[in-house]
Amino acid sequence: MPRKIIIDTDPGQDDAVAILLALASSELEVLGITCVAGNVPLALTEVNARKVCELAGRADMRVFAGCDRPLMRRLITAEHVHGKTGLDGVALPAPTMPLQSAHAVDFLIDTLRAEPAGSVTLVPIGPLTNIAMAMRKAPDIVGRIAEIVLMGGAYFEVGNITPAAEFNIHVDPEAAEIVFRAGCPLVVMPLDVTHKALTTRPRIEALRALGPVGQVVASWTDFFERFDMEKYGSEGAPLHDPCTIAYLLKPELFTGREINVEIETGSALTLGMTVADWWRVSGRAPNALFMGDMDAEGFFALLTDRLGRL
Ligand code: BDR
Ligand code: CA
Repeated sequence: MPRKIIIDTDPGQDDAVAILLALASSELEVLGITCVAGNVPLALTEVNARKVCELAGRADMRVFAGCDRPLMRRLITAEHVHGKTGLDGVALPAPTMPLQSAHAVDFLIDTLRAEPAGSVTLVPIGPLTNIAMAMRKAPDIVGRIAEIVLMGGAYFEVGNITPAAEFNIHVDPEAAEIVFRAGCPLVVMPLDVTHKALTTRPRIEALRALGPVGQVVASWTDFFERFDMEKYGSEGAPLHDPCTIAYLLKPELFTGREINVEIETGSALTLGMTVADWWRVSGRAPNALFMGDMDAEGFFALLTDRLGRL
């Protein structure tokens, strides 16, 4: 039986690769894709999600638009990394598949209520606004979530959008606090892990050689890696979001620790910081499996194999 998941996303080239990896993998049944404002405004993320589904030959996928701004704050976007469209690289055709009429938050609630309790995994790879809103609107769904596997936060790497915070958590820290305190099983892929999933030359050329889908993916990484290579002086850029899907497919690629993670929502300097008790000094109960390391070669082997199936 494939594992049922909902991807909550703000594409974003690395989000797009995560969606492709999920759609290429028969172990996963993607029940729907819910979009949120993040890397770019909602009007672009929902169009980008549909473009990516069509690229994967999955015009039948249900794509929903959700919250267009954080719970309590003005939206911060990341065009400086992802480009004006959020999906700069090779221009994909405008999607012909429809956007679903339901709001993403209602789709999340209805699906979690309709499916057997404990059977649906959420994979948030953008700001956590939709997920937190669903939990607030329908608290009964919290106990029905099998697991949340999200990309966000950092410990040793500290921050990317500010010196102290990672983008997805910083954009909507109040939403992140709701999700981290909800009490459902939580797996966190922080920058400490995703900064190891680097787009080196051989890895990207292997993807490019796959054919049309691989060439689009390589055009995306060609675009956004310039920014990260300059910023970090690294030999490639981190492919953050697909780490979540890779974890669902091959958890043995990742190692981490069950620890307590709290979200800073009060300080101007450290807003959205994931205060991760890696050394377990706080005495606070663990609420997350916080990843610390990954097998990057194994990850790219998996990604290349799966994208080759599209
Ligand atoms: C996260 O922020 C976004 O720019 C990426 O898509 C990823 O989800 C990394 O900090
Ligand atoms: Ca993202």
